[in-house]
Amino acid sequence: MKTVNWPAWPQYGDEEQAAVSGVIASNQLFADRQVRQFEDQFSEYVGVEYALGLGNATEGLHLALAALDVGAGDEVIVTPYSWISSVSCVLMQNAIPIFCDIEPESLGLCPADVERRITKRTKAIILVHMFGYPAKIAQFVELSERYGIPLIEDASHAHGASSDGRKMGSFGAISVFSLHQRKSLSVGDGGVLCTNSPTIYEKVRRLRSFGHEELSYNYRMSEFAGALGQVGLRKLDAHNVVRSSNAEYLSELLADSSDYTVRLGRPGETPAFYAVLLDVNTPIPDLNFQLERMTQAGVPIRKTWGLLHLHPHFNPDVAPARGLPWRDDDYDGIMRTVEYREVLLPVATGLCPDNVLELYVHPPTGPREIEFVARELKALRN
Ligand SMILES: Cc1ncc(COP(=O)(O)O)c(C=O)c1O
Repeated sequence: MKTVNWPAWPQYGDEEQAAVSGVIASNQLFADRQVRQFEDQFSEYVGVEYALGLGNATEGLHLALAALDVGAGDEVIVTPYSWISSVSCVLMQNAIPIFCDIEPESLGLCPADVERRITKRTKAIILVHMFGYPAKIAQFVELSERYGIPLIEDASHAHGASSDGRKMGSFGAISVFSLHQRKSLSVGDGGVLCTNSPTIYEKVRRLRSFGHEELSYNYRMSEFAGALGQVGLRKLDAHNVVRSSNAEYLSELLADSSDYTVRLGRPGETPAFYAVLLDVNTPIPDLNFQLERMTQAGVPIRKTWGLLHLHPHFNPDVAPARGLPWRDDDYDGIMRTVEYREVLLPVATGLCPDNVLELYVHPPTGPREIEFVARELKALRN
């Protein structure tokens, strides 16, 4: 197999250098003016009233649940297909994750399965827009209103994605974005929590920084992240155009192959393509080996993520010293009697991780690299 010089992501340059040097020169390194400016710009970009800069998105998810008073004995609806933080945040509040199945179009939570698993204990729904593909947001907003259960959007992959012209992260009671180095808006480590509610805003502001009498945290964003975030935000839309044309070109090049389907989102949606997802329609012999060869040739491609209901956090061999919230005597919900690894999630299990591939197409990746990967994918059959 030939090799390709796939461009690295992220690529920091003069603007980022100047932003960081400016912070040093200001002699003010913890959250201050740069963070406030970034928050103002980010809230305007997403189309929400408030944005709060944090150390990372995991802190944001934790604060989201704390701000909603989710606690011991409460259930929170979660997806099995995400990064661990989208579910471990529930354990941080001593609450009980309820895994629901995903739907095959966006790989986000399935509204019907979520509705089926709502109980009197359900205190929040955490919806993830995986790899920047909008989940079925309109149905979740409706469900959230009908049952009076707050919706938290984990938009960690979805900077700039939209549905019917409205940005992801502007629909839920709270949304959270990751600005981790690998993300499309990349500051090293960073996160943002957005909301339209002045009450939630005030509470999260207190909780993120040693807030008065309440149990609270030090989850502030640094000035460096605030300064870098402003640069990244200025570039985000142009970068997303590159991601989306790479996805479309790949789809075009693979159109004559029945082996793969490139996911381009549904009508009315603009995915952010944090990665492009491709379905593997028929089994490929030695797929793991073939993907390893492609990775070694320089292509950032791999099978997608494994499922979280199988994670040791929810299936420990030995219960941790603090115990397991679903084994608490006061809890008599469904997870009292069902093992997490045995929860039935047929759509998620059928697709992840073996039948979906993720390919990173960040700028300056362009036609040359996309043509290379299309050729290699087709050759896997030969
Ligand atoms: C969907 C999702 N949510 C949350 C996180 C946590 O983000 P952070 O690393 O900023 O804590 C990640 C990290 O990759 C993620 O992919």
